[in-house]
Order: sequence, then C-alpha cells, then structure tokens
Amino acid sequence: MNQSSPSSSLAARKMAKWATFAALLAVVVIMLGAWTRLVHAGLGCPDWPGCYGFLTVPQSESSIAIANARFPDTPVDVQKGWPEMIHRYAAGTLGLVVFGLAACAVRNRRLGVPVKLPLFIAGFIVLQGAFGMWTVTLKLWPQVVALHLLGGFTTLSLLTLLTFRLRRQARQEQDRKSLASTPLAGFRPWLYGGLLLVVMQIALGAWTAANYAAVACTDLPTCQGQWWPEGMDFQHGFDITQHVGPNYLGGQLTADGRVAIHVTHRLGAMVVLVYFAALLAMMWRRRGDSGLDNAIRLVAVVLSVQILLGLTNVIFHIPLSIAVAHNAMGAGLLLSVIHLIWQYQLLPGTRNVRATHTTTMNQEVTA
Ligand code: HEM
Repeated sequence: MNQSSPSSSLAARKMAKWATFAALLAVVVIMLGAWTRLVHAGLGCPDWPGCYGFLTVPQSESSIAIANARFPDTPVDVQKGWPEMIHRYAAGTLGLVVFGLAACAVRNRRLGVPVKLPLFIAGFIVLQGAFGMWTVTLKLWPQVVALHLLGGFTTLSLLTLLTFRLRRQARQEQDRKSLASTPLAGFRPWLYGGLLLVVMQIALGAWTAANYAAVACTDLPTCQGQWWPEGMDFQHGFDITQHVGPNYLGGQLTADGRVAIHVTHRLGAMVVLVYFAALLAMMWRRRGDSGLDNAIRLVAVVLSVQILLGLTNVIFHIPLSIAVAHNAMGAGLLLSVIHLIWQYQLLPGTRNVRATHTTTMNQEVTA
C-alpha cells in the first residue's frame, strides 16, 4: 500500500505517539541510571534480574534474613536496593514498549511504516539489558559501565530517529521541491564530524563517571592548581584492559590516572565548544530562509547549558541534581545534533550535492 495513503498515515501517527513515549521513557531510564550510580547503589542488588532473588527489595525481617543467607558477602541495604530496582523496573517497562512498537511495525508492514528500525531497536534493547546484567555481575567493571551508558544514549537516539521518521510519514510530507543548490550545501560532513565529536565527548564523560574521576580535579580552570598537572597517568587512566574481579564501586584507578581522565574530558569539552561555535556560526550566516534557525539555536543553547552544568559540577563538587542534569543534558546535546542533521537532510539541494555535480559533469561531457 502507498506510504501516503490515509491508513498508512494513521498507523504512522499511532506508532509515532508510542515512539515519542518510548523516547521520553528512555530519558527517564538514563537519568535513573545516573542517579543509581551517583548514590553508589549500582550494587544495591547483587544479583540480576531479581534483588537477592526477590521481585522487589527485601524489606521484612524474614526476607532480609533469607537474602543475607543467600548473599552473606553483601548484606541487604534497603536504601541502596531501591534506586537499583526502580531503574530496572523503568528499563523493563521501556523494553516492553519497544517490543510492542516492533510488533506493531511488523503487523503494519504493508502500510509502509518503518520495520527494520523498530526491529533493530528491539534487538538492541536486549543487548542493553545484558549490559545492565553485566554491570552488576562484573561488579561495576568500568568498561561495561561506560558501554551501558553509551548503549542507553544509543537507544534514545534510535527511538528519536524512529519518532522523526514516523511523524514525517504521519504528516504525509513529500520531499520538498528540489532547488538547484542552497548556500547550506556542503555542511553534511561537518555535521557528521560534530556528531562524532559529541559521541566521543560523551564516551569520555562515561569513562570519567565509571572510574569515579569526577573529584580528581576540584578547581577551575586549573586542576590541582596546575594547568597541566604533573604526573598525569594516561596509560593507566585509559587502560581498557582493567581486569574483571575486584569490586569497582568507588573506582580502582590511581589518583594520577583519574586526573588524566578528568583533564581529557575538560579538553574534549573545549574542542566540542570551539568546533560547534565555528560550525553553527557559519550555518547561521548562510541559513537564509532554510527554516533551520530553531535547530541551530537549539544546539547552541543545549551545548552552553551542558558546559555550564559541567563547570558547576566541578565547582560545587558533584551535587546529585547537577550531576544527573549533566548526564541528561549530554543526551540532550546528542539529540539536538541529531535533530539538526535530520532537519538539514530534509533541505532540498543538500542531500545530493555529489549526485548533482556528477549529473552536471555528465551533461557537460555528453554535450
Ligand atoms: C560538550 C560538553 C560535555 C559533554 C557532552 C559531557 C558529557 C558527559 C557525560 C555523558 C558524563 C557522564 C555522566 C554520568 O554518567 O552521570 C559526564 C561526566 C562528567 N563531566 Fe561532562 N560533558 C561535557 C562538558 C563538561 C565540562 C565542561 C566539565 C567540567 C569542566 C565536565 C565535567 C564532568 C564531570 C566532573 C563528570 C563526572 C560526573 C560524575 O561522576 O557523575 N563536563 N560528562
């Protein structure tokens, strides 16, 4: 059936609502994950998917006694169990919504709704669940903690992309009329370069958090009173072969290793800032009536807020609310860049710059 038929649009609209809900829920799950880590509750339940073998955190005297007998090395701490379990319930609900979306896509496949993407997200969320399990069973091994965080951001990005696609289909938007060229043509590789930088910066943030390197530098703009702290140990700081075994709650790295991670995350922020300041300024100057004003502004605002949150984190020694907000705004920055790229790709004359050149050249050769 035609992608622009009324029934196709109706199916897309329904799915778009669910995809939006799933994306919002993914933001909540990501923030709950950060909160769990920040209140040191990542090992609040030593097993998975239950908590000491129960569906909820053991509360009564008898269930606590059973739990402590099952896991004598990690006695029950109810205050730590709940953040972990709330994160798991929210993630479980997100999993169900994502599976529902995938089923809906398969059922409506003849209506032209996207099918591969929802199926991929469903598969990805299973993998993300496995990373959640390994986070616990491998005792907060930093490699897995960082990948779990990146997996959460990836799930959110994919759900947002699905929402964009479904909304576009629901509105039955056609490709805009093709213009020969636009002053914004040629920005595509730079936008993707920016996206890559943001992903790398998020990965550095995840590594900072997973190794508890947040408090390695408590002053600004210097670190431990020095512009380039003496003895920074990049080899250990970025040793991704830290072995499985010890309990990584609170981190196991040397102080010099943590300083190296923290300083690299700061430098990364400066690179991202300079890159986007230049890119957005150039796009702004050439935007004309492209309609990209809001998308460009959004990236600029979110990036500024994210940097301010990062600085506040350091100045006030990682207050819980600011640290959770810094995590969420990292996701926000990623989404705002994806949104800008999406809007940019919809502009006529930006997608097929190379194809247009080739056609023109062919015409010239033929002539
Ligand atoms: C483009 C800008 C930035 C991005 C995308 C970014 C992203 C992130 C992310 C995703 C995390 C992991 C959060 C978590 O797991 O809870 C993080 C952690 C952190 N970031 Fe940034 N960040 C940026 C700029 C900055 C700046 C400018 C500073 C300070 C100078 C900073 C300081 C920190 C600190 C201290 C942590 C560790 C917090 C913790 O352990 O909870 N960030 N960052």
